[in-house]
Amino acid sequence: MLHLQLLLLIFGGKFVGVKLGILGLGTVGTGTVQLLQDTVGRHPLLQEIEIYKVGVRSLDKPREVKLTDAVLTTDLEAIVTDPNVEIVVEVMGGLEPARSLILKAISHGKHVVTANKAAISRFGDEIFTAANQAGVYVMLEAAVGGGIPVIQPLKQSLSVNRIHAVTGIVNGTTNYILTRMQTEGSNFSDVLADAQKFGYAEADPTADVDGFDAADKIAILASLAFGGRINLEQVYCEGIRQVSRTDIAYAEKLGFVIKLLAIARITTSCSPLTPSSPPTLSVRVHPTLVPKTHPLANINGVNNAILTEGEPLGQVMFFGPGAGAGATASAVSSDILNLVATLKTQKTGTLLNPLYACRHQDYCQIAPMEEQVTRFYTRFLTKDQPGVIGKLGTCFGKYGVSLESIVQTGFQEKLAEIVVVTYDVREGDFRQALAEIRTLEAIDSIPSLLRVL
Ligand code: NAP
Ligand code: HSE
Repeated sequence: MLHLQLLLLIFGGKFVGVKLGILGLGTVGTGTVQLLQDTVGRHPLLQEIEIYKVGVRSLDKPREVKLTDAVLTTDLEAIVTDPNVEIVVEVMGGLEPARSLILKAISHGKHVVTANKAAISRFGDEIFTAANQAGVYVMLEAAVGGGIPVIQPLKQSLSVNRIHAVTGIVNGTTNYILTRMQTEGSNFSDVLADAQKFGYAEADPTADVDGFDAADKIAILASLAFGGRINLEQVYCEGIRQVSRTDIAYAEKLGFVIKLLAIARITTSCSPLTPSSPPTLSVRVHPTLVPKTHPLANINGVNNAILTEGEPLGQVMFFGPGAGAGATASAVSSDILNLVATLKTQKTGTLLNPLYACRHQDYCQIAPMEEQVTRFYTRFLTKDQPGVIGKLGTCFGKYGVSLESIVQTGFQEKLAEIVVVTYDVREGDFRQALAEIRTLEAIDSIPSLLRVL
């Protein structure tokens, strides 16, 4: 409530909620509605969003979110043409009717948020041309990398760099499958079934397994990174069906892991960079042996990562959950928030975009260090006497410090070296135990005290 009052003060305008029309209430739609219905602790501008209409295929399906009968509808056409709707959120997937509905929304002056990489990579030309003509935005943070913010950084923060390459693990399903095949020796189809159960896979999982989903995503990333549209048909694409457990095991022995990589790279040998035209690129998706020391080698499970290489910044890697309800809800909602901030700025005539301006008025309270809970590593030098380890244990026990390990590692001159690692403990309790230990006659010194993550 306080946040809302503050916003009203800042903007001086009257409170008018922004009405959303959401197309689809599956994994992504449900996650997004859940996030928007539970705004405590999130950006206060989210409170200005009204879930006005949600379009689905079937009204009889049980839903995980509560929506009134007036909100839920099967008439998606009516949503994208409704004059009350300002932002259309397309999370239904597929090519049609998604493409037509997006275009209709645009032609009716609505901003669009979409998670649909398949539609954007194929019809991006048509969709963005229409959006530019209509003066509306089409936002697509959730289309690549699930919850990882990578689209906005490529559009904004990284755009001053001359990008040479974008290399990503951009499909959560295949990374999940390959990781489990590698770590558990699991069977391909069992793991795929799990990925479907967790909502990572596409409605037709061949798009994941055969690399088409990753191809859609690298086409989008390449387009943003290199400033030219990408013809999807020219993106080389090979999936993971032929990757066997035997290959994974041999790769492991040779110091590699097998990952489905999506790569877009400038090939300056084909044509030099010019100020006026986009560069020549190599854009491809295929299973790749990645050296275990490479930053992408340790991206496991449903996680995605996108490594950008550019000048002058060098390498930057974006990492996080690449699929699933929560991850995509975060990305979709951040796009919605960006649009709401823009609409708010335009409507109230304020000079400050609330997402750029600092909105904080009050100080956070910082908890004192004694209240921190962490693990500790401590190295003691003690007299070489019987019972020293017991005395340390007793002292720690007195203050509720539980020990994960205690080992005598050797000697330094005539002093015994003892290393202790604790379980999580309140720092104040640990310090009290240590103060008492320092007074023990057998303790010479405590040369190291480090916190353990
Ligand atoms: P989903 O679980 O299959 O949900 C699709 C939703 O759209 C359902 O609610 C369905 O209605 C509705 N729908 C589909 N076609 C419709 C039609 N013709 N008319 C009316 N309603 C229709 O799909 P999802 O996993 O949420 O994915 C949605 C989009 O997000 C896709 O473009 C996908 O590629 C993208 N995406 C997904 C993820 C992920 O982790 N799942 C991550 C990033 C991006 P009913 O509920 O009535 O069947
Ligand atoms: N099916 C996709 C994946 C969803 O597994 O990565 C996220 O785009």
